[in-house]
Amino acid sequence: FEGMTILELAKRCGESIPTMQSILVNVGEKVDSEFDPLGIDIAELVAMEVGVNVRRLHSDEGTNVLPRSPVVTVMGHVDHGKTSLLDALRQTSVAAKEAGGITQHLGAFVVGMQSGASITFLDTPGHAAFSAMRARGAAITDIVVLVVAADDGVMPQTLEAMSHAKEAGVPMVAAINKCDKPTANPERVRLQLAAEGLLLEEMGGDVQVVEVSAINKIGLDKLEEALLLQAELMDLKARNDGPAQAYVVEARLDRGRGPLATAIVKAGTLVSGQFVVVGAEWGRIRAIRDTAGKMTNFARPAMPIEIEGLKGLPMAGDDIIVVHSEERARMLSEGRKKKRERDRLRKLEKEKREKEKEEE
Ligand code: GTP
Ligand code: MG
Repeated sequence: FEGMTILELAKRCGESIPTMQSILVNVGEKVDSEFDPLGIDIAELVAMEVGVNVRRLHSDEGTNVLPRSPVVTVMGHVDHGKTSLLDALRQTSVAAKEAGGITQHLGAFVVGMQSGASITFLDTPGHAAFSAMRARGAAITDIVVLVVAADDGVMPQTLEAMSHAKEAGVPMVAAINKCDKPTANPERVRLQLAAEGLLLEEMGGDVQVVEVSAINKIGLDKLEEALLLQAELMDLKARNDGPAQAYVVEARLDRGRGPLATAIVKAGTLVSGQFVVVGAEWGRIRAIRDTAGKMTNFARPAMPIEIEGLKGLPMAGDDIIVVHSEERARMLSEGRKKKRERDRLRKLEKEKREKEKEEE
């Protein structure tokens, strides 16, 4: 990317040169000619602004690429036990143990295995974040646990979750929950899932099925094993050095500490003190905390963290990018705010026009 000109970048991104130039102006970059070479960070920012997935642009060659933990989201129908299952898994998590059972709510937690492997779970309701991230072409979830209650079977939101996962190209592991119930019928659930096109392992496919009970804590280890096996098949890796690329899972306002964002690093290393642009907001990272609430100086891929120091509240699914200066952070944030406002007005305008048409 280094030394790429606007002309080349425009070609790569499938955008016009004026579009690229206006973005450059927005981020405060002065460019005289389309043949001028751009700095790597600027080229990246501009590419991001036009929605080009930066992961593709980043070359991992020659960098420190290491295996990483899977990031898992639990999905399924109302009342099928998503929260209960996460709570049960959370109780086996490292953070819960370290914090003496009092886990602060982070929207994500890590379960460590004896083998040294670990799994990062994102809390539900994660549907909104999941969809938002998918819309940005950056599904952060590697695996979806599809929770189906053994007594209730496949329901509308089960199907919805399945199609979400399928569209995003995220593999599923089915967890048949509430198997402790006398009315439980896991066999029926298997048939229903198969009938919906899920290729179950026991029928020659590759979707693992695990019977669990969140309440009686049965099958949790089997579920974790299944997830690790799935992760192994996917050979998950991430670039560990270089600028971080991360995503917001959840954000909230704390009275004393200001805007806080739970985030997961997708690639690179996020370092305390860096200037970041988060969605349309910006800030300088004042503190990074891990799931146990401990301060840490940096965050690596698949590690859920809480960051402090943003000027405004970002949204779930927002991307976090590192920039070199406060000035650039401000400018990119302003540019994005303007763009969001334009998009919003455009959408309103469109809706108005459609309404008028209908009334004619
Ligand atoms: P929503 O967030 O509303 O979509 O529900 P959920 O999927 O998070 O379900 P939740 O964990 O809240 O559980 C719903 C009900 O099912 C609660 O009353 C739980 O106690 C019960 N439940 C969850 N898991 C089990 C289980 O393994 N066995 C039994 N018997 N009940 C369960
Ligand atoms: Mg719930």
